[in-house]
Amino acid sequence: MTGSQTPGHDTSGHDVAGRHVTEHQATTDQDLARLTGVARTYGRGSAAVVAVHEVTCVIRRSDRIAVTGASGSGKSTLLHLLSGLDEPTAGQILWPGLGGRPFGRPGVAGMVFQGPSLLAPLDVLDNTALPLTLAGADEDEALRRAADALSTVGLADLAARLPEELSGGQAQRVAVARVLAARPRLIIADEPTAQLGSAHAAQVVDLLLTAADDLNAGLIIATHDPHMAARLPTCWRMADGALLEAAPCSS
Ligand SMILES: Nc1ncnc2c1ncn2[C@@H]1O[C@H](COP(=O)(O)OP(=O)(O)O)[C@@H](O)[C@H]1O
Ligand SMILES: [Mg+2]
Repeated sequence: MTGSQTPGHDTSGHDVAGRHVTEHQATTDQDLARLTGVARTYGRGSAAVVAVHEVTCVIRRSDRIAVTGASGSGKSTLLHLLSGLDEPTAGQILWPGLGGRPFGRPGVAGMVFQGPSLLAPLDVLDNTALPLTLAGADEDEALRRAADALSTVGLADLAARLPEELSGGQAQRVAVARVLAARPRLIIADEPTAQLGSAHAAQVVDLLLTAADDLNAGLIIATHDPHMAARLPTCWRMADGALLEAAPCSS
């Protein structure tokens, strides 16, 4: 979309979930991320694309949120900002419950992407352990946690396989195991089921919900699929870069 100026949030000082937000509100470690008037514009001048604008919201450990909206509505941009992978062009993002920007600190925020994200030369066990080994964890401990995580997602038998020997659904379950092994406090998934059939898609969303509960982590999933969104308790709808409202996902 290009430069719509429609206000995208409740300007009365509430975030989209209706929670009161003030500058002086004490932060708690339940506030994993706190976005205030956040915008992300790509390009400049007449070529500028406002991908996200005027987003004010808080994400807590207890949150299980589906971000819905049409293709191009800004879901991926919002998740990239939330992860610290991208930076806002206006506004502020704080991560009080994560000890600062999560990107570049493995194990703080876990990401699941739409497409293949496993490293082809590494077997499933090593892929699952990778965020831990990158973070400098003891190798035996990393592999033990990876094996536990693969058991949790029902893939212990596939530990020695290469990514090319997995189905799409199995690969996404490994991606969930990789998040589980690293024990993040925030799980961010961008269209994790877009390339899966409905049965496998539901399984992956349910595994993400279970992982969030097991880890006491916040969970935010972008999806354009209303059936997947309906498996989560809360929906944040996006249109033209704005967060419209929070609602029960089944509504
Ligand atoms: N790197 C980029 N450069 C320019 N425009 C971009 C870039 N990434 C996304 N956009 C634009 O920003 C808008 C939001 O994109 P995106 O966040 O990917 O939406 P969604 O994930 O909901 O499909 C779209 O108009 C898209 O074309
Ligand atoms: Mg997207």
